[in-house]
Amino acid sequence: MRLCSFLGVLFVWGYFCSHEAKLIGRNQNIVNDRPVIGILTQIVSDAAMKQYGSTYIPASYVKYIESAGSRVMPIKLTLTTAQYENIFSRINGLLLIGGASDLETSDFARVSKIFYQLALKANEAGDYFPVWGTCLGMQLLTVLVSGHNLLTRATAVNVALPLNLTQAAFSSRMFDGFPKELMKALQREPLTGHFHHYGLAVKAFKQNKDLMDFFSLVSTNFGENGVNFISTIEGKQFPFYGVQWHPEVNRFQWDHTLSFPHSPHAVQLSSLLAQFFVNEGRRSLHKFDDPKEEALKLIYSYTPVFAGNFSGYEQIYFF
Ligand SMILES: *[C@@H]1O[C@H](CO)[C@@H](O)[C@H](O)[C@H]1NC(C)=O
Ligand SMILES: *[C@@H]1O[C@H](CO)[C@@H](O)[C@H](O)[C@H]1NC(C)=O
Repeated sequence: MRLCSFLGVLFVWGYFCSHEAKLIGRNQNIVNDRPVIGILTQIVSDAAMKQYGSTYIPASYVKYIESAGSRVMPIKLTLTTAQYENIFSRINGLLLIGGASDLETSDFARVSKIFYQLALKANEAGDYFPVWGTCLGMQLLTVLVSGHNLLTRATAVNVALPLNLTQAAFSSRMFDGFPKELMKALQREPLTGHFHHYGLAVKAFKQNKDLMDFFSLVSTNFGENGVNFISTIEGKQFPFYGVQWHPEVNRFQWDHTLSFPHSPHAVQLSSLLAQFFVNEGRRSLHKFDDPKEEALKLIYSYTPVFAGNFSGYEQIYFF
């Protein structure tokens, strides 16, 4: 690992590096070219959406995953633990999307925790399984890792921002192989769309040993209220990733009233991150044993609804 060759000289880092190399480096040559990424549905709370279903996934997240060569399996929030274990053995990664669910008491939080624990155990046993959290999904990852909801008000609602990259960003896996020009643009141009009232303050992150041990801090941003919040994180020993911003909107959402970055650099950023995550999924060898079951469970048997006249999304899948 590049990170390790840099840090390996430091005695204190030796353990983390060799451990990380073991987890992250495993299965390096084994490739699954038919990945399936699971996406947990979100509970519908918006009145205008209720007539279509009780849970939903905005189509932009589905397109984002599909754009990088993966299929999508929607995962409902009403199943049993045994059913989730069964799903886990068939999918190659998990995407926790944005939304407005409670981080501790909602079904979204409950089901995320089941998958989080399965993913921890699998990765520890050498069974590679990536997890990505976007916006609420990232916040949830910090709750799962620390065991506490440490969020504070960190308003960045409907604003596009450059990222304040940390040193760790330049040896991160997420941004590995990014063209130099894009790394520059990422720090100067408003390429990341933010839609959150809450966030995790950098200070709270740094004061929490569990979070500091688990995640590298890859980028930070300032909220409108002056709070410096974490905006990108990456697991040190586990293939877990989190962004407080929304990479999927750069290519797949177009509401005129919302600050979605659509510049060439914004599109490139979104494409490369989708490719990165799906490549992580290609390292998982979980699969459906029965092609008929697979066909029934994937997103293809659902049809998205045109939602441009009652939501900020053009299309939404309802379940
Ligand atoms: C970027 O982060 C550094 C270190 O935390 C901080 O000193 C600096 O003010 C930040 N810059 C911007 C533009 O956010
Ligand atoms: C949105 O547009 C669709 C398709 O034209 C229509 O069927 C639906 O009633 C509209 N919904 C609202 C809330 O206007």
